[in-house]
Amino acid sequence: MCGIVGYVGDERKTKSVLIEGIKRLEYRGYDSAGVALLEAETEEPVVIRKVGRVDNLSNACKKALKEGFHAVNGIAHTRWATHGRVTDENAHPHRSSDGKIILAHNGVIENYESIRKFLTTKRYTFSSETDTEVLANLIAYHYQKEPESENGLSRFAKSVRKTFNHVEGTYGVAVICTDYPDRLVGARKGSPLILGVGKDECLLASDVSAVIANTNNVVYLNDGELVEITKDGYHISNWDYTQIEPVIHTVDWDIEDAEKSGFDHYMLKEIFEQPKSLENAMRGRFSEDASTAKFGGLNIDVSQLRQMDRILLLACGTAWHAALVIEYLIEKYARIPVEVEYASEFRYRNAPLDKNTLVGVISQSGETLDTLEALREAKRKGYHTMAITNGVGSSIARECHGGIYQHAGPEIGVASTKAFTSQVLIGAMFALYLARLRDMSYGEGKSIVAELKKVPDLVHQSLSEAEKIKEIAKRYSQYPDFLFLGRQSLFPIALEGALKLKEISYIHAEGYPAAEMKHGPIALVCEDCPSVFIVESDEIQNKVVANMQEVKARGGKVICIQSEDCTIPDGLADEVITLPKVHSMIAPLLATIPMQLLSYHIAIERDCDVDKPRNLAKSVTVE
Ligand code: F6R
Repeated sequence: MCGIVGYVGDERKTKSVLIEGIKRLEYRGYDSAGVALLEAETEEPVVIRKVGRVDNLSNACKKALKEGFHAVNGIAHTRWATHGRVTDENAHPHRSSDGKIILAHNGVIENYESIRKFLTTKRYTFSSETDTEVLANLIAYHYQKEPESENGLSRFAKSVRKTFNHVEGTYGVAVICTDYPDRLVGARKGSPLILGVGKDECLLASDVSAVIANTNNVVYLNDGELVEITKDGYHISNWDYTQIEPVIHTVDWDIEDAEKSGFDHYMLKEIFEQPKSLENAMRGRFSEDASTAKFGGLNIDVSQLRQMDRILLLACGTAWHAALVIEYLIEKYARIPVEVEYASEFRYRNAPLDKNTLVGVISQSGETLDTLEALREAKRKGYHTMAITNGVGSSIARECHGGIYQHAGPEIGVASTKAFTSQVLIGAMFALYLARLRDMSYGEGKSIVAELKKVPDLVHQSLSEAEKIKEIAKRYSQYPDFLFLGRQSLFPIALEGALKLKEISYIHAEGYPAAEMKHGPIALVCEDCPSVFIVESDEIQNKVVANMQEVKARGGKVICIQSEDCTIPDGLADEVITLPKVHSMIAPLLATIPMQLLSYHIAIERDCDVDKPRNLAKSVTVE
């Protein structure tokens, strides 16, 4: 949450690179946006900040900056408010009261009050309610005390380094010093920051999507690293000023992947991208000979894995729902006990764990702080950890012992869609892999590999229901409450359906195992509360049908998402969405598609901003 961008390079491009950059990071927060530019002619800073979306900022820049305005460098920010209300004054970048330092920050400064008190005694003043403003003033304070450097880091960079010796909390920052118009300084701890290395230009950003229009070459900075950039190069150092040799990664997707490509919203584009993202999750990961899945980066040998007698999965939000599906699949097929816990709870609960426990974390972004801290806690206690993540080079990817990349491409819509299904698919493949190390036969493995390979086509087929779901959405968009009900591995899909609906359409929705309904939630059932049932033609189909009858008997509407061979009595469901009959390993993944489309179209009917729902942001880097 919060997005930052910094640029030094072609003066004519500075402003547009920054505005375009934070536009691409807008999914990280959209309470306000701001930019600071050092004007090329005067080398004086211009700071423009506006409540609302980046478009507001862009319009304000058009009004405030004269034709042909060029800037030698600049930084920009899009905010998800933590400390301080959503006002222009609290928008970033923030400037020190002596005017020398300007800074954009992502993270939370925990000891800002004591720093603020200290700086007030030194006559620094404050004009915002944010925690961030103390950073600008503290850098300015160290800067005026710091002697000019003779070699290595500049006086400016050293003052940034000194500042962070006194700061508790998390940060990714991009900093301007008016005395150093040729450069910017960036630093990180706990919040992501990457360096983009272009031809005669360098960029800082919270993630790759902000630099991809300029360069595919990026360096993922580590916690504690500080970088000084000019248009000709960069210098990375750690806490003790030692220079770091960077590893430059080439990003394997391009600007097209981060655009809407003709779709009205990123969310819809990402829903329709699922055949491709699922294909990518599987690519090169089956061994036909051994009838199993294979993974290159687990970094755990087979004998160690065989000894694991428990798996603990940690995640948040939608990724937590993926973990719940994976729990069903691993327990059913590999017969290994699995527990799923909210990452945020695990960290502070001090749960007793068995010696042979494999700890897995699941995170689309790879930056969710709750999940990252849970991973660190598990590592601290000596557990072998693995991650399923879409965030190449992310903090989680770098800190776990091993893992599996999703290769789903950038997910920009705040509501997670393609990342969820790819996590579930990878979980199914991992369950197959574990099962084949234990009791699953060659023959069964072979047939499951064949079934999993059909997934992209099956998803493609399910997407063809989109028009029908749109019509259903029109009929149901004004209901105030919804129940989502499913059983076994379809129960987490009910939870995910409810979450998707509430986060993008602001309708109250709850997910339950269908049988639990009668233990309380049935009290909600009435004409105004439709129930979405997800049902398969399995041994408990009749029990779910009985629950539908209970809803109908109380005047509730029933929307039924069912596999084509289900035998639901005629007329019981008010609406029926049919899915192909598939292997039970695939059923939860496939049932997700109509849920995503239903919530998308309901949100559109209600005129909601589906890509940027209120109060939310993607990649939650605060606790
Ligand atoms: C919901 C959603 C969130 C995320 C959660 C974890 O649509 O996107 O619930 O799933 O914030 O994010 P990651 O997977 O990045 O750790």
